[in-house]
Amino acid sequence: MSNDLNYDVIIFGSGLAGLRAAVELSARMKGNVKIALVSKVQVMRSHSVCAEGGTGAVLRTEEGDTLDLHAWDTVKGADFLADQDVVFKFVENSPKEIRLLEHWGLPWSRREDGRIMQRPFGGHTFPRACMAADKTGFFEMQALYDQLQRYNTVTRFDECFATSILVDKGVFAGLTIYNLPDGEFLALRAKAFLFASGGLGTLYGFTTYSQTVTGDGQAIAYRAGLPIEDPEFIQFHPTGLVPSGILMTEGCRGEGGYLRNNKGDRFMDRYAAKMMELAPRDIVSRSEMTEILEGRGFSGPQGLDYINLDLTHLGAERINKRLPLIREVCMKFLGLDPIKEPIPIRPVAHYSMGGIEADITTKTKFENVWASGEVACHSLHGANRLGCNSTAECLVFGAISGEEIAKFLSKNPPLPSMPETKFEEERKRIFEDIINRDGNENIYAIKKELRKTMDECAGVYRTGELLKKGISRVKELKDSFKKIKIEDKSPIYNSNLMNALETENLLDLAEIVLICGLMREESRGGHARTDFPKRDDEKFLKHTLVTYSESGPKISYKDVTITHWKPVERKY
Ligand code: FUM
Repeated sequence: MSNDLNYDVIIFGSGLAGLRAAVELSARMKGNVKIALVSKVQVMRSHSVCAEGGTGAVLRTEEGDTLDLHAWDTVKGADFLADQDVVFKFVENSPKEIRLLEHWGLPWSRREDGRIMQRPFGGHTFPRACMAADKTGFFEMQALYDQLQRYNTVTRFDECFATSILVDKGVFAGLTIYNLPDGEFLALRAKAFLFASGGLGTLYGFTTYSQTVTGDGQAIAYRAGLPIEDPEFIQFHPTGLVPSGILMTEGCRGEGGYLRNNKGDRFMDRYAAKMMELAPRDIVSRSEMTEILEGRGFSGPQGLDYINLDLTHLGAERINKRLPLIREVCMKFLGLDPIKEPIPIRPVAHYSMGGIEADITTKTKFENVWASGEVACHSLHGANRLGCNSTAECLVFGAISGEEIAKFLSKNPPLPSMPETKFEEERKRIFEDIINRDGNENIYAIKKELRKTMDECAGVYRTGELLKKGISRVKELKDSFKKIKIEDKSPIYNSNLMNALETENLLDLAEIVLICGLMREESRGGHARTDFPKRDDEKFLKHTLVTYSESGPKISYKDVTITHWKPVERKY
């Protein structure tokens, strides 16, 4: 690992948003910038490589698509909680990102006429998901990684676990990292800092996320005093493979796949007669759960009752060409060939609409800190994100972060001085307190119980009673965490310690998801309360903001920016 600890910028997270920001920054600074890229995994193991179905952009205006239509679909999909100025900035910039990736060699799937193929996706009124078969995220990551090789700007800190940001009077001064392979604990310093560390999906047991996605960025930001916006809005993707939770891309339905209950019925006609299987995710997930709860699902393993995703009518050629990964995963994990048999699926934790509060330029409340991608809340997705708007968000807002940080650096800001006492406090917290805990509680058991609690108490359907149960369970688990035992005392690649730190992060985040969910006494997008089944624009057409305090989370609300469309009833 590099001995150089001083940089112009630290980018925390090496997925799509982080890489896109690094490329933009390197290009704008003409290679004259020192970037530290920090990740707890190797770059091409970032969770972005798992993105499957596509990236949303308006490319076919001559065939009828428009930016306004993409913006409207996004705002309506968001159940009107999206900031509409942000939505317009997003839809205007997304096509440019697709063309850039095209120039950078991304092997898009092609139509007969040679143009980039776009498939239909849920909640979009036009086929907008630009696709590379069903491995879009992988190819986007590869194209960005390749681009980055043009510049000699990045020092990689792979397999380095970030534990905190050191902040002095609202100014970022350093990032503390545990370098797993070498066992060192260090602080990297920089003039500017970007959070781009992705989601928090392993908060749930049944999830599409890699086990590495533990909300480290959100938790670090929260404890440092940055507000987290709209954390109660968790997206459940309608098609998680049972029992593993692996994503069966929305592209399956985009290609024409059906959802069927145990009577063989395409039940979506009762819930969204027009868009059927391609209604937005919140609606399809609720419909599936209703079918299951009313006895029209199939009985599944580990209590995971399911619905069938039927692709059998699509034929071998279409499946092999457009959905090769889906077929491979079904065959490897279930010994099931989707050309011949339906796939068992159910709603699965997939995305967090909330995150670190960041404005339209991706700037956070701290003077020299930005956030982009899933770790951030740009107020783009509101209460429910549309499929294929996430990879697009990472590209668009990653690029904006790169541009904004380049502007900031061009003013020659000083390297903030290191708050040594804070660094020492953080070192002691981990390497004197946590590592030496010698109680009788097992961190893996705590993590498992936490994820079970979230599955049960903050799922597709919620009630005040369930959310309260979740809050008190998380409090107990936080108490148990104080009495954990770390078996491994070695500094070198101590995954036992890293798991403890990840679990601590998840516990803090679970608490705010549940509390903010309890406070929001309405149903909107991904937050469906059976005890408050209606959307309540009077009281809750507002973003939640939650900030850390010693005595517990502090909650406030802020207005939604409405520039074009007033809320109306959502019908699909
Ligand atoms: O279904 C999918 O391929 C997921 C896409 C997304 O979350 O945007």
